[in-house]
Amino acid sequence: MRGPDPRIHFGTHTFLEVMPSRLFLSSGDLMADRRFEFARDLQLKGDLAAAADLLLQAIELAPAFTSAWFALGGIREELGEHWAAITAYQEAQASDPGDRHGAGLRLMRLGAEPVSGMPQAYVQTLFDQYAPRFEASLVGDLGYRGPALLFKAVLSVRSAARRPAVFKHAIDLGCGTGLAAAAFARSVERFIGIDLSPRMIERARATSLYAELQTADMLQGLRSQPDASADLILAADAMVYVAELGPVVVEAARVLSAGGLFAFTTETHDGDGVVIGGGLRYAHAAAHVRATVETAGLELALLEDRSARNEDNTPVLGLVVVAAKT
Ligand SMILES: C[S@@+](CC[C@H](N)C(=O)[O-])C[C@H]1O[C@@H](n2cnc3c(N)ncnc32)[C@H](O)[C@@H]1O
Repeated sequence: MRGPDPRIHFGTHTFLEVMPSRLFLSSGDLMADRRFEFARDLQLKGDLAAAADLLLQAIELAPAFTSAWFALGGIREELGEHWAAITAYQEAQASDPGDRHGAGLRLMRLGAEPVSGMPQAYVQTLFDQYAPRFEASLVGDLGYRGPALLFKAVLSVRSAARRPAVFKHAIDLGCGTGLAAAAFARSVERFIGIDLSPRMIERARATSLYAELQTADMLQGLRSQPDASADLILAADAMVYVAELGPVVVEAARVLSAGGLFAFTTETHDGDGVVIGGGLRYAHAAAHVRATVETAGLELALLEDRSARNEDNTPVLGLVVVAAKT
């Protein structure tokens, strides 16, 4: 296993509400790095033109300076320079094959690239940074309620079927720090947690709520589970990081035993299919979710408009979904 990349530092400036610290990838050139830091100071003071100028100077010294290109993209967006922002994000993407900053997502949001999957390195980096303050930030600041919504939805489906809401083997996709397992702790005998972010997994491990934890992409993790081995699969605020729901739902259908449930939240929108929202998460239209569940051979037991979190003190449009294996 390779150790942590010594060139990566996590800054502390507020960046996006959902991305509380700022990733900095050193250029390896001291002068260029200094110019970058001055540029960020100028940006914070509101002098965007001077900040852009300094970033260009930094890039002249270190042409593959990913963080500078990415920051320049953001400033150009703020300045309303659409095409120049796209060019900067493309350079950021080209100079870091893992795209840890998520320049590709910015390009999708600007309409310069079709909606496609999130780079794993980006999700990992985002949540590794986020892990120490995740619960305070999401639950405290954004009024996060995903696990409680899932619990209520599962109770309601089981109660309508006149069956108790107790489960032997549950899998928590994108388990994060373990909030969904905590919500279901009294109803589940054994929990497996799967998450891409090692630091989120560390937090989940510390709860002792999981019999097993895997640091993996949810689709890969599900693929490693035997047929009909789980009676509950949860994904609380995790499918918002998955562009294409289909493969995960198909795999969940295989892993569920008869009568088992797959309960998840999504963000949604009034149009068709999948879009990328302002918060850089995917939003799935209700009809698209319905079709995906049915195509996978599951029965849609519940689909309700419910918001799992707020942004700018406003509930983000969302869905709670429970799909049942018949
Ligand atoms: C907003 S957090 C929610 C965590 C937890 N489910 C909860 O309700 O608190 C989203 C989590 O999903 C994980 N995640 C995102 N995409 C993933 C993927 N493709 N595979 C596995 N985990 C993923 C992230 O690392 C993060 O921990």
